[in-house]
Amino acid sequence: MSHEITACIFDLDGVIVDTAKYHYLAWRRLAEELGFEFTQEQNERLKGVSRMRSLEILMEIGGIQLSQEEHQEAAARKNQWYVQYIDEMDRSEILPGAEEFLEELRAAGVPFALGSASKNAMRILRRIELDQAFSAVIDGTKVSKAKPDPEVFLMAAGEMGIPAENCAVFEDAEAGIEAGLRGGMYTVGVGDPGVLHKAHRVIPGLHAISWSDLRSG
Ligand code: BG6
Ligand code: MG
Repeated sequence: MSHEITACIFDLDGVIVDTAKYHYLAWRRLAEELGFEFTQEQNERLKGVSRMRSLEILMEIGGIQLSQEEHQEAAARKNQWYVQYIDEMDRSEILPGAEEFLEELRAAGVPFALGSASKNAMRILRRIELDQAFSAVIDGTKVSKAKPDPEVFLMAAGEMGIPAENCAVFEDAEAGIEAGLRGGMYTVGVGDPGVLHKAHRVIPGLHAISWSDLRSG
C-alpha cells in the first residue's frame, strides 16, 4: 500500500533525544543490584516498551521473581536514577538533524506530534526546550496500552485530525515500528536496519531525511 504523507509522529527516546542510553544505564544499575548482568543487546527488547513492561522483561532476563510490592519499588528506584540523568540534560543532547527536520516541517506547514511511551516526556521536552514545538503530545501519562499496541500513534493522529495512513511514524524501537504498522501508518526506522527491518524505510538519524524526500516516498 502506498502512503500519501501529510503529517509526522515522532517517538522521543532515541529519535529526538539521546535518552535511550540513560534508560539503559538505569536498568543496568538495577540489574547489577539484583546480581545479574544486562547487556546492550538485551536492552533492545526494552526500547519503546512501558516502564512496567520493561521491568517484567528485565526480571525475565535475570530469572528473578518479585512480589507486586517489590515490582513497584524497583520501577520507582529505576525511575529515580533515570530522572537524575535527564535533569542534567540540555539542548546539546538533541540528536543530530532532529531540530532542523522539525523546523523544516513547521516551515512547510506539516503538522507533527509526539508519540512516546514515556511518563517523563514533558519533563524531557522542557529540558531541551521543545515543549512548545509539537501540534500534539501523546505520552505515557495518556495511554493505557503499551507499544506494540498502536494506541499512542492513533491518539496522536486523531489529535492532529489526520487519517492514520497519512502519518509517517519515526521510531528507533522494534516495538514502535510494530505499533506504527498495526496502526496502518508509514513507518520510518531510525537506527539499525538489522533491528528495524520491518519498517518501510530505515535511516541512520533525522539528519538523513528531508521533507521533500519523505513525501515522495
Ligand atoms: C520509551 C523508552 O520511550 O519510554 C522505554 O523507549 C521506556 O525504554 C519507556 O521504558 C517508558 O519511559 P518512562 O520514562 O515512563 O519510564
Ligand atoms: Mg524510542
